[in-house]
Amino acid sequence: MDQTALGDLREQAEGASRQARAPYSNLFVGAALRSASGQIHRGCNVENGALPLGSCAERGAIAAAVLAEGPDFGLVEIAVVAKTADGSIQAVSPCGACRQLIAESGPTARVGFYSANGEWIITTSAELLPYAFVLPES
Ligand code: THU
Repeated sequence: MDQTALGDLREQAEGASRQARAPYSNLFVGAALRSASGQIHRGCNVENGALPLGSCAERGAIAAAVLAEGPDFGLVEIAVVAKTADGSIQAVSPCGACRQLIAESGPTARVGFYSANGEWIITTSAELLPYAFVLPES
C-alpha cells in the first residue's frame, strides 16, 4: 500500500485539530475524509464536562459529510491527526465507536493515522474492525 498517500487529508486533519474543543483531555484531534464525489469533509473532537458525552473528530467529519452530501456519501479515505496543547503530534488510531461508523460508511475505506512509534500508517476499515457488527435486517 502506498504509504505516502493521504498527504492532503493529513494536512487537512491537522488543520481541523486546531479547531478542537478539548479542555479535559488536552488531546486535540482532527479528521479529514474524502467522499466518493471527491469532496473533503473535516471534523474535530468536541468535549464537555460530562466526559463520556464528548464526540470524536472522525464522527464529526462523517457527520459533516452526511450533512453536505447525504447518508450515501461514500467514505473513500479518512486521515486522523492528534496534537497536544504544545503542538506535538500524538499517536491516535480511531476508537471502537468510530471504527464502527467508518466501516459502515466505507467498507473498503483507507484510514491514515500516526502509530505509537510516530510512523504514518495507512490501513483499511476492514483491517481496523474485522468481524464488524452488522445490524440484521428485520
Ligand atoms: N478522540 C478522537 O477524537 N478520536 C479518536 O479516535 C480517539 C479519541 C478524542 C475523544 C476525546 O475528546 C479525546 O480524543 C481523548 O479521548
